[in-house]
Parts: sequence; structure tokens; C-alpha cells
Amino acid sequence: MSVKIRPAVEADLEQIARVNHESWQHVCQGRVEQRYLDAFTLGQCLSNWQSRFEQLKAKSEMLLVAERNSLITGFCYHGPNRDNDACAPPTGQIYLLYLSTDAIGTGTGTALFKAALLELSANGFEQATLWVLVLNERARQFYSRHGFSPDNRTDLDERTGSARMRYRRLLP
Ligand SMILES: CC(C)(COP(=O)(O)OP(=O)(O)OC[C@H]1O[C@@H](n2cnc3c(N)ncnc32)[C@H](O)[C@@H]1OP(=O)(O)O)[C@@H](O)C(=O)NCCC(=O)NCCS
Repeated sequence: MSVKIRPAVEADLEQIARVNHESWQHVCQGRVEQRYLDAFTLGQCLSNWQSRFEQLKAKSEMLLVAERNSLITGFCYHGPNRDNDACAPPTGQIYLLYLSTDAIGTGTGTALFKAALLELSANGFEQATLWVLVLNERARQFYSRHGFSPDNRTDLDERTGSARMRYRRLLP
């Protein structure tokens, strides 16, 4: 069965948290200090998603999920830009993009990401940015394939103690 991309509903939050937690561990395992991995529990992740979901509409944020065989295999969380130096022209941001480990390399990432960029465009954003860990080479290559380039802003990601870099592109 093919993958379906749709807006998330409240009943998806547990599966979204599971995908988020599993996928984040997959990226960070062996690459960031164990204390960061231990600090981000599944329970914490679910509680973060419950608060984000409650405020989604008020903050004009969007959350899309990829569903295959009634299971959530990935999600993309995006909306208005949160950086203080990236507001003109109207700039959106991809906050989080995660696939379950078994969906990586299946085209699900591309389907979700394209839908999210279209949704940002449809909401009036003319460009988009995202932050990615420097150590996350697969994700960096993925974003480059989708037309994003580093815009020379870097900083330290507090959740991992690792360097992260910002990518940017104009939206169609
Ligand atoms: C970053 C991430 C979303 C990128 O997804 P991805 O798996 O590379 O991308 P896709 O799902 O589009 O898959 C593309 C691959 O599937 C293949 N593929 C198979 N069927 C496909 C299809 N129907 N359509 C498109 N590609 C397909 C492509 O050839 C490509 O293969 P390759 O990676 O060997 O070149 C994903 O790796 C991920 O979730 N990683 C863990 C979390 C993470 O790092 N998030 C980003 C934090 S900033």
C-alpha cells in the first residue's frame, strides 16, 4: 500500500512521539554523549507533542504525518520562522522531520517534505529555513537534494551538545 500524507490528528500523537524518539536515538546513538540520549525519554517526547498539538492552530503551525497500513511512519512539523534574523521575505521553517527507521530510504521523506514545502508556500511563505546537526550527513544530503543550501549560520544545539547549521531555500 502506498504512503498517505495527511494532517495529524490528536489520536496520532503517541505514534508521532514513538517515531520521533526512535528516529532521534537512531541519529544520535554513538555520536552524542549518552547523557543527552538518556535525558530525552519517550514520556518526555509524548508530553512535548501534547503541548505542541494544543497550541498548533494558535501559533499557525502545521503537522503532517505519513501513514502506511494504518501506521504512522513519519511526520513533518513546520510553520512560521522562529529565528530572529529570518523574517523577510515571509519565511517559514521546517522544525522537525523524522521517519521511523524502517521508512528511511523508501521515498517517505521526500513525499512528506514536498507536501510540507507546498503547505508553507500555500500559507504565504516565500522561503524556508531549517536547522540540521552537522553530524547528520544523511539529512544534510537530503536537504541539498531538495534545493536547500547552508546560509552560514551555525550554533550549538542544546539537546545534543553538538553543532548545528541552518539551511535555506526559496519556495516555488
Ligand atoms: C532525513 C530523512 C527524513 C531523509 O529521508 P530519506 O530516507 O533519505 O529520504 P526518502 O524517504 O525520500 O528516501 C530517499 C531514498 O529512497 C529511495 N526511494 C525508494 N523508493 C522511492 C520513491 N518511491 N520515491 C523517492 N525515493 C525512493 C531513493 O532512491 C533514495 O535512496 P538513497 O537514499 O539511497 O539515495 C530520514 O533519513 C530520517 O528521518 N532520518 C532520521 C531523522 C533525521 O535525521 N531527521 C532530520 C533531522 S534535521
